[in-house]
Amino acid sequence: MIAPGLRFCSDGFPEADFLNRDFSYPGLFDPIRPMKTVLTTGASGLLGRAILRALAPHTDWQVRGTGFSRAAPPLDRLNLRDRTAVTAYIKTLRPDVIIHSAAERRPEVSEKDPTATEDLNVAVTRDLARLAAGLNAWMIYLSTDYVFDGAKPPYRPDDPTHPLNTYGRSKRDGELAMRDVLRDGAILRVPILYGEVERLGESAVTIIAESMLQGRKPLTLDDWAVRYPTLTDDMAVVCRQMVEHRFSNPGFAGTFHWSGNEPMTKYGMAMRMAPLLGYDPACLRANPAPGGGPPRPRNARLDCAILEALGMGQRTPFAEAIVPILRPHQR
Ligand SMILES: NC(=O)c1ccc[n+]([C@@H]2O[C@H](COP(=O)([O-])OP(=O)(O)OC[C@H]3O[C@@H](n4cnc5c(N)ncnc54)[C@H](OP(=O)(O)O)[C@@H]3O)[C@@H](O)[C@H]2O)c1
Repeated sequence: MIAPGLRFCSDGFPEADFLNRDFSYPGLFDPIRPMKTVLTTGASGLLGRAILRALAPHTDWQVRGTGFSRAAPPLDRLNLRDRTAVTAYIKTLRPDVIIHSAAERRPEVSEKDPTATEDLNVAVTRDLARLAAGLNAWMIYLSTDYVFDGAKPPYRPDDPTHPLNTYGRSKRDGELAMRDVLRDGAILRVPILYGEVERLGESAVTIIAESMLQGRKPLTLDDWAVRYPTLTDDMAVVCRQMVEHRFSNPGFAGTFHWSGNEPMTKYGMAMRMAPLLGYDPACLRANPAPGGGPPRPRNARLDCAILEALGMGQRTPFAEAIVPILRPHQR
């Protein structure tokens, strides 16, 4: 079947403009409609790796990912701060969706180098959103619960933001930057993440296990800030569901939250992990006061009602999810 309005260039390929239009016919397979391309930035990172795993079964999508210092095939190596390279890459790939997961997400590093953080988390986001807008592509911007101050949880997506540290401000400014140039994009805020790690220090959850495996006794941990550790594989399923939903509902856009629903402090996480690591829980000490470092929200619980109402989401219990994550790192 030839779609109405199809025009061909002299090289025999459909006109570029045609490639951007949606000629979906419910219930019909259109053999000339190009395959959707879904690009994930930060695909070498903690969350990006899980997103690629979640998208992989979609053999009807071209799934691509970029990394930087850790990029190895099949990922494309792309320095997102190199504007010329990014423009050339996006204009060549012409993605239908960009899941923008790359970021500087370590609050201490952001505090020390606010300029580089601002460039990656804000300016790069604005550039990607502009490119997406030019291609009529959709974009999901991964953001954080640190856009809130943690004083009045739970937070709905439209609650006022009030970040307490440089990292949180940069992610909030990244949200605004995307919104500025791509009004129908999606912001997806997530809390502390854990999942399959290359090394235990890679996530703020498994780094606690590293301290226990190093035999640090006693081990004093924050018992002040309430966190909602969220499995990257669960988060990645939400990203996939959002893309699927957008393909069948072109108006789907806005700000969304997803989070695990088990509140715990870092001390609480350690208490749950200790038996798995053969660490004596009696050697764990709870610190009831805010720890050092950049200020952080006490409880930035995210209200996930919107995505829940759409039937999206997956929540794997912490006690179940953490076992296979720690296993490869146990001595
Ligand atoms: N992890 C959490 O607990 C958490 C909590 C809330 C929100 N988030 C948000 O979730 C998203 C994913 O976080 P994550 O934990 O997966 O981060 P991550 O593990 O630190 O990964 C960061 C990714 O960004 C890439 N990157 C850094 N600088 C780059 C550059 N100049 N050019 C291209 N790529 C660059 C890295 O590539 P290389 O490593 O290959 O250099 C890596 O793939 C972020 O937007 C973050 O703000 C994370």
